[in-house]
Formats: sequence, C-alpha cells, structure tokens
Amino acid sequence: MKNISDNLKKDKESGKTAYAGISCLYEKWCTGDPFYEKTKQFYMNYLPQREGPFLELGVGTGRIARLLVHHYAVEIIGVDICSEMLDICVTEYCRQKKSGCPGTLCLEKADMTKLHYFEQFGTVYLPFRTVGHILKEKDLDAMFQGVYRALKHGGGFILDHYMFDRMWAEAHQDVDILMYSDDRVRIEDHYLYNFEKEYMDCTIKVNGTVADQFCFRWYSKECIGSAAQKAGFILESLMGEFDGSVWNEESGNQIWVWRK
Ligand SMILES: C[S@@+](CC[C@H](N)C(=O)[O-])C[C@H]1O[C@@H](n2cnc3c(N)ncnc32)[C@H](O)[C@@H]1O
Repeated sequence: MKNISDNLKKDKESGKTAYAGISCLYEKWCTGDPFYEKTKQFYMNYLPQREGPFLELGVGTGRIARLLVHHYAVEIIGVDICSEMLDICVTEYCRQKKSGCPGTLCLEKADMTKLHYFEQFGTVYLPFRTVGHILKEKDLDAMFQGVYRALKHGGGFILDHYMFDRMWAEAHQDVDILMYSDDRVRIEDHYLYNFEKEYMDCTIKVNGTVADQFCFRWYSKECIGSAAQKAGFILESLMGEFDGSVWNEESGNQIWVWRK
C-alpha cells in the first residue's frame, strides 16, 4: 500500500476528491456499516415530520434523499463536493423521476463549509457521520454558521455522528475489515488511527487494490455542542441511538437536533 499522505497530496493536486474512487460501489460498500440501515430508517421516519424545504449536506449518491423524494412530496436540495458521487445521484434520480415520484431533488456541487444560502430552508440535515469529513475546527465553525444563515427563522438542523469507541478502534487498528463481498467484488476498509490528533487515515480496497483514501476525524460531544452554540443554535434534543432514545453516557451515537 502506498503512503497515504503522498496519495492524498497527489489527489489534491489533480482535483480528485475523496469518494471519487469508491463512488460506483458506494452503496454496496456502506452496507457493511452497522448504521447503514438504521440511519436510512431514522431519516425516513424523522424528516417527513419536519418543515421543508430540506437541504442535505454531503448528499452523495442520494441514498437518503432519493428515498425521501420517492415516498414524500418533499423539496430537497442536496450538496456534495464530489462530482462522481453527484453524477450517480443525478442518473439514479432521473431514472426515478421517469417512473414518477412525488418529491423533487436538486443537486449542487458545493463545499458544506462554504454555504451561500440565505433563510431558504425549513430543515438542514447532515447524515451518516459526514461531519467527520470536516477536518479543521475553523471549518466546522464555518459549516455551522453557513447552516444557520441558510435556515429560515425557527428552522431545524439535524446531524449525527458517533461517540468514538477507543476499544473498538484499537481492536481494528491496521487490519483489513470486510465491508462487502459477492462473486465479483470484495471491498475492505483499512484504518490507521492517530489517537492523539483524533483522526484516522482510511483506505478502501476493492479486490485487494486501493480504490480510495481519505482522512476522517471524530468529534467529541462537547466540540460539536460548542460549535453549534457559537453559531447561535438552540438545542432541541440530543439522541443517543437511531431508535430515538435520549443520549446517555453509554450511547453509541450523538444525534443532535437544533433550532435557529
Ligand atoms: C458518508 S458519505 C454520505 C452520503 C449520504 N449522505 C449517505 O447518507 O449515504 C459522505 C459524503 O459527503 C461528501 N463530502 C465530504 N466532504 C464534503 C464537503 N466539505 N462538502 C460537501 N460534501 C462533502 C462526500 O463527497 C460524500 O459524498
């Protein structure tokens, strides 16, 4: 395996973003995540009760947004930084639209730390721990401020992230983790954790060859809570699991709901 920082530098120079390499297998790859199904069910149940229009940050292939517009007459704008993920989302959404669906989905290539919307949305959501792709705290602040500006008065912001599990991470440090396999493809993750600096280098291998690499960081509850408060948000609820249970010290997740 090549050195990850050399590869990431090369990708930056060529304009290639994380997820470009795994985009066509993304929805197979993430079935290996124990929260794949739970996040989908959670947002499918929760969002239709909230006010639209909706903004999904890091919409990817539209795993959640496409399902929502398929079942509900909701208006969603999805932003993502990765063209390859958005291309898949567009293709799949057009196919869906032809067979008829009640909602609408508009897509935009944009960086969630540089949002330009103003008082346009009833609800913004950032699902599937995607906040961990924001590596610097100043960018985390910028994301929260951009979301605050994007929301109408009284609008809501929902974000989920995990509670970092050091024991799990130590047991899975520098080993291949099977995410998906069928007759033709085998997809594995490989993580190198930097516990002191609170980030991990993630490598995704398809049939043994490196397909994608990116850094991902984990945020404490305090760090997320303080960035939200600084931006002006008022806490509505903090859940600890995708079944809606209230957060406690044993919770595996931090699922936040704020109000502007
Ligand atoms: C884990 S995937 C989540 C995709 C989708 N929301 C889902 O639940 O399947 C993370 C997505 O966030 C996107 N992303 C990462 N950093 C971003 C940024 N700064 N701005 C916008 N999108 C970003 C990636 O390109 C990727 O499509």
